[in-house]
Amino acid sequence: MSINLTQKSLTVSDVQSRKEGTPLVCLTAYTTPVAKLVDLHCDITLVGDSVGMVLHGLPSTLGVSLEMMILHGKAVMRGLRRSLCVIDLPFGTYEESPEQAFRNAARLLSETGAAAVKLEGGSHMSATIAFLVSRGVPVVGHIGLTPQAVNTLSGYKVQGKDADAERVINDALAVAAAGAFAVVLEKIPQALAHQITKAVLIPTIGIGAGPSCDGQILVVDDMLGAFAEFKPKFVKRFADISQQTAHAIEAYAAEVRNREFPTQMHSFGLPA
Ligand code: KIV
Repeated sequence: MSINLTQKSLTVSDVQSRKEGTPLVCLTAYTTPVAKLVDLHCDITLVGDSVGMVLHGLPSTLGVSLEMMILHGKAVMRGLRRSLCVIDLPFGTYEESPEQAFRNAARLLSETGAAAVKLEGGSHMSATIAFLVSRGVPVVGHIGLTPQAVNTLSGYKVQGKDADAERVINDALAVAAAGAFAVVLEKIPQALAHQITKAVLIPTIGIGAGPSCDGQILVVDDMLGAFAEFKPKFVKRFADISQQTAHAIEAYAAEVRNREFPTQMHSFGLPA
């Protein structure tokens, strides 16, 4: 596929205008080569703090630092031409105060060139979202299952079931009223995601939230089958990179041991 060098990046208002339109296609990316591939087909590329688990082997996203996000954000931005780049504020870099959030969001945007930040939390983060937006930082909200709260949520369970639905609806309304330009709905019942999508004027981006959302996002390593530790129910594997990689490494090891590789084809000059 050829790349159109004159193509402009999508803007925050392009994303907003997709409410109830063609679904927004979103994936995470953490490296330049993957970002280049994602960019050809996705509207939003998220430098997610999932990088800690899928690339760095951390047990949760809690150990991800601002420096890690900046490093991966810079790498991803080198690969993007069209897609809007959103970068996660990691745990501990925004919850203390709106001022702390602004200081760290400003670093993420100015040092990477990303267009927007994403932060986790509903009603209790609305003052921070409003503070950021009023100071020039576009924000994507993230409600429902918020992985940075894994310890207070006691795991990665479905959120907003039964009596808890009202809390998640209020979170969505609060995040939208605070000025977020889109909101990620993670791991909530599909009927609730449908209700929220109808109730808010900003695009909803679902992950484990069913088909009614205005867009969908997955962790790229999950959908490629590159992260094989576990597969959440909401992930569809579109490839099995982990198994292919394992087969390739096994074949390489066997060929080196059997002196089948390298051959003349991979060597320089005449054999001695
Ligand atoms: O960090 C991440 O990859 C995310 C997505 C799961 C939405 O927040």
